[in-house]
Amino acid sequence: MRHWWVWVWLCLGATLFPPVHAAGPSTDKVLNPGAELWNEVRGRQAAPATTQVQGRDSQVLVNEWGEHFRDYRRQRFVRYSGYLLAGVVSLLLLYHLLHGGLEVTESGRKVLRFELTERIVHWLLAGVFLLLTVTGVVLAFGRFVVLPWSGPEVFAVIASASKEGHNLFGPLFIVALLWFFVLFVGRNLPRLVDIYWLIRAGGMLGGGHPAAGFFNGGEKIWFWILTIGGLAVSTSGVVLDFPALVEGRNPLVLALVVHGIAAVVLIAASFGHMYLGTLGVKGSLEGMKSGLVDEAWAHAHHVLWYEELNRKAQAESSAREQGQ
Ligand code: HEM
Repeated sequence: MRHWWVWVWLCLGATLFPPVHAAGPSTDKVLNPGAELWNEVRGRQAAPATTQVQGRDSQVLVNEWGEHFRDYRRQRFVRYSGYLLAGVVSLLLLYHLLHGGLEVTESGRKVLRFELTERIVHWLLAGVFLLLTVTGVVLAFGRFVVLPWSGPEVFAVIASASKEGHNLFGPLFIVALLWFFVLFVGRNLPRLVDIYWLIRAGGMLGGGHPAAGFFNGGEKIWFWILTIGGLAVSTSGVVLDFPALVEGRNPLVLALVVHGIAAVVLIAASFGHMYLGTLGVKGSLEGMKSGLVDEAWAHAHHVLWYEELNRKAQAESSAREQGQ
């Protein structure tokens, strides 16, 4: 039972990899009775077409960009993002099996790391992000990952629930992200010590725990990936939720491409973050659950922050003594 998280990661990799690998150009040859007509229409694309319907794109009979996008989605996006996600899960598993998580002997004394509001906003953001991930993965990969197991009837229900849910949770993500940004940006500004932390790969090179402030270099990178990637998925998501905001179809295709790539990068990075928050660095999760961390954990992983806390506590106690 102690290693239940390993099984979660293992199942994730096993579910994503094989069906996504099978995705790609369809080899099914379906006879299209209208094929000749449409081939002729496509051949006439250069010639001006006339129509009585007055509206944007009303003279476009075949949207070539739509077809390019469909090919890109099936042949590149689904395949390579599947490889990336399954690859990240496999690397994390391999690292954990070879190296195990970082553990510090506890002192039994606790210090406050996160206020209640900070924890609520973190779990709100994390919860909405996970719901968007699950529904988004169904929309992008469902055809290859879910359909073969569920059959078309069940898949239709899952896919339409995912679409509605995804559209609904999107705006909530924007609110949570902005709130999170305001609360945490001050502690995520880059410092020289972060570069040293990154060069030492957080202690993987050279051993020990390199010095870090409240957040270390790796956490700051995650924060900025989340901020920039979050901005990209949010703006493109708003365009997709409200297509009337843009002119024509091509900006929508661009929004779909940006949305997909940014989301996959965010999901891949979040796997790393979730691994470190659970199995990778023991004792971290406690801080996000109760707000308190062990002093030995604080000293080992965030020594500069820990020293600052001590300095403040000493200054407060001597101010109290002088006041008496
Ligand atoms: C199972 C899921 C998750 C767990 C167990 C988890 C755990 C944690 C923990 C323990 C911390 C504090 C680390 C420290 O004390 O230094 C943290 C911070 C953070 N988490 Fe999560 N988290 C999860 C999901 C997420 C998700 C989905 C997101 C974003 C979409 C997220 C974004 C963040 C950010 C940005 C920070 C602060 C890092 C910084 O500002 O530098 N977390 N998380």
